[in-house]
Amino acid sequence: MNAEALKCEKLDKIKRVVISEEEIKAKVKETGALISKEYEGKPLLLVSILKGAFVFMADLCREITIPCEIGFMCAESYFNGTASSGKVNITLDLKQDISKYHVIIVEDIVDSGRTLSEVVKMLKERNPLSLKVYSLLDKPDRRAVDFSADCVLFTIPDLFVIGYGLDCGEYYRNLPYIAEYDCG
Ligand code: IMP
Ligand code: MG
Repeated sequence: MNAEALKCEKLDKIKRVVISEEEIKAKVKETGALISKEYEGKPLLLVSILKGAFVFMADLCREITIPCEIGFMCAESYFNGTASSGKVNITLDLKQDISKYHVIIVEDIVDSGRTLSEVVKMLKERNPLSLKVYSLLDKPDRRAVDFSADCVLFTIPDLFVIGYGLDCGEYYRNLPYIAEYDCG
C-alpha cells in the first residue's frame, strides 16, 4: 500500500468528532486556572503518563501560571489494539523524590481504571505531600476496578476514541480533536 492509500484508509476510520479542538482548549484553560489557584505557593509536580497524556500535559502546563515541575512515567496497558490487556507495565519511572511535592497525575483517559489505580497505589507508597488525578476523559461505563479521578474534563460514553494524544495502533495521536474510531 502506498503512503496516500494508507493515509486515506486511516482517515476513513474516523467516524465523527466527539469533542472539538475549541471545546478542549476552553476546558484545559479553565482547569489550568483552577490548578494555579489551588496550588499557589506549593511545590507542584505534574506527572504525565505516556504516551497518551503527552498532548494534554503540554497544553495544560502552559495554562498553569504558577511554578511547577514536570515528570514522566510510561505505563503500558494496551498493545496495538482497542482491548485492554488487563496488565499494567511501568516502563519508565519518575526521577523526582515525590515526598517533596504536591503531585498531580495528568492522564488521558480513565477506562477500566486499572492503569491509574496501579499508578496511584505505587505513588502513594512514596509519600507525596498530596496526590490528585486529573484526567482529560472518563469512560465510567467501562470501569473494571473501583477508581475515580479527582478531576475529569469530559465524561464520554463507551466509545473507542482517538486524537489529542490518544491512539489506535500508534496512529491518530496528532489529531487536534477527540473523535470516535470505527472499530468495525
Ligand atoms: P485503563 O483501562 O483505565 O487502564 O486505561 C489504560 C489506557 O488505555 C489509557 O491510558 C489509554 O491510553 C488507553 N485507552 C483507554 N480507552 C481508550 C480509547 O478509547 N482510545 C484510546 N486509548 C484508550
Ligand atoms: Mg494508548
